[in-house]
Amino acid sequence: MTRSLAWDESTIVAVDQCALPHNYRELRLRTVDEVIDAIKRLAIRGAPAIGVAGALAVALSAEQHTSDGVCDETAVRADARRIAEARPTAVNLSWAVDRVLQHLPQGAAAVLAEAQRILSEDEERNRAAADHAAELVLRLCGDRPLRLLTHCNTGRLATVAWGTALGTIRALHERGRVEEVLFGETRPLLQGARLTAWELAEIGVDHRMLVDSAGPAALAAGMVDAVLVGADRVCANGDVANKIGTYSLALAAKAAGVPFIVVAPVSTLDPALLSGADIVIEQRAATEVTTLGDTLVAPRGTPAYNPAFDVTPAHLVTAVVTEDGIHQPSGHNLAETAGQLYARGWMEGTAGNVSVRVDADTALITASGVSKGAMTSQDVVRVRITDSTPVGPGRPSAETSIHNAIYATFPDAGAVVHAHPPYATAVAALAARDGTDVVEFAGLEIIKGLGLADAVSVPVFENHADVPRIAADVAARLTADAPPVLLIGSHGATTWGPTLESARNRMESLETLCRLRLLIDR
Ligand code: MRU
Repeated sequence: MTRSLAWDESTIVAVDQCALPHNYRELRLRTVDEVIDAIKRLAIRGAPAIGVAGALAVALSAEQHTSDGVCDETAVRADARRIAEARPTAVNLSWAVDRVLQHLPQGAAAVLAEAQRILSEDEERNRAAADHAAELVLRLCGDRPLRLLTHCNTGRLATVAWGTALGTIRALHERGRVEEVLFGETRPLLQGARLTAWELAEIGVDHRMLVDSAGPAALAAGMVDAVLVGADRVCANGDVANKIGTYSLALAAKAAGVPFIVVAPVSTLDPALLSGADIVIEQRAATEVTTLGDTLVAPRGTPAYNPAFDVTPAHLVTAVVTEDGIHQPSGHNLAETAGQLYARGWMEGTAGNVSVRVDADTALITASGVSKGAMTSQDVVRVRITDSTPVGPGRPSAETSIHNAIYATFPDAGAVVHAHPPYATAVAALAARDGTDVVEFAGLEIIKGLGLADAVSVPVFENHADVPRIAADVAARLTADAPPVLLIGSHGATTWGPTLESARNRMESLETLCRLRLLIDR
């Protein structure tokens, strides 16, 4: 089979990942208990694959608990709970189970149809994520054959097809951009040695296996251009749970200045968990550590610590890439950026506000009335872009409507920063005093910091007391080709960009432009 999972007449067919690399054989699973057992034994493994298997298992349960056209929903929900609990760390499992359960009131056929949709979406989503990640890697490392390091198995076996981090390696290999792949054996269950080695040979890319503890040494020795890994859960603050051993690679990548990129479908994101401290890490049997295959390698009865996953904090992750592109930072990063701007004296008191787009319809923005110096990842509010109303608890910034006018006008805007840096505010105040609605800058190198060539016309807006009026002016005046910066007379500046980092950098560049203007012209 080319797909690692399929549905065949009331049977779940899966590649038996316990039998590889020596035997490539199918498992045919006909009961919920068989599926749960296959997931627990890691015969079916990898976050996206266990999500799909979980969804199909609920479909199996719904079929088996239907008689005379009536489905015993209570029994199916009880099975669904057991399926979702088979492994706790990968959010894809509970995500997929919850998704198919929504169709349970429509009967077993509707549940199966939804499970099959999840199955067929998986390949295209991973492929899209892998393509985005491949582009990012080439952008960060240069368009040339690269030496890549990966961990565990994130290939076609860990998904329905194609893979995530290994799918990215596959995409780069197709473009002739892989010199060599290094990968850790992935103790204790050897997903690297057994599965990734097998897939890399199948793809036909040059590869070498490392003991896990050699990964950081290879990074320190300059043998790696980029690290690519998958994920089991990505929190709202960007912390990532993945196979044990990932964290040490991230630390070593940071120390070596090597990009550390996480590739995962959106179904691996868990916006409900604020940080990695909240992730349940699966603990497995000590015998997996004390044995190698069937051989005992430690004195009988040696106790062991065997977490299946670790958490890599967001600050060590260069980017999380999904099928939608680079995953935007959210709660924690908003608070952190606001705190940095406060420390510079650009968000004095409770002033200033920062937001990131979550999706086409909503954004996360800093809460109203909170000092940016004391802000935490809890002090953010999700708002609807169309009308600035909050989705969920909290009081959003009083200037939310200006952010949303920008998101609505610029589909590529992923983040907006509004601050009161002194020179930009002074230039805005002078423009207001002079009755000017545009400030021209030309011939200064720092203009490039706005992502522009060597001249920019920065629009100046009137500072109405009624903030939605400012937002309405922004929406009416700006067109999609406007520069990513604006001034509000006697008030401050607003900048935006694809990421929060780029929006913040543009604010810094705009402030320098205004400082230079005042030094040169006044
Ligand atoms: O215990 P496993 O083998 O299921 O762990 C798998 C991983 O940690 C993978 O990196 C992750 O699930 C992503 S698979 C595309």
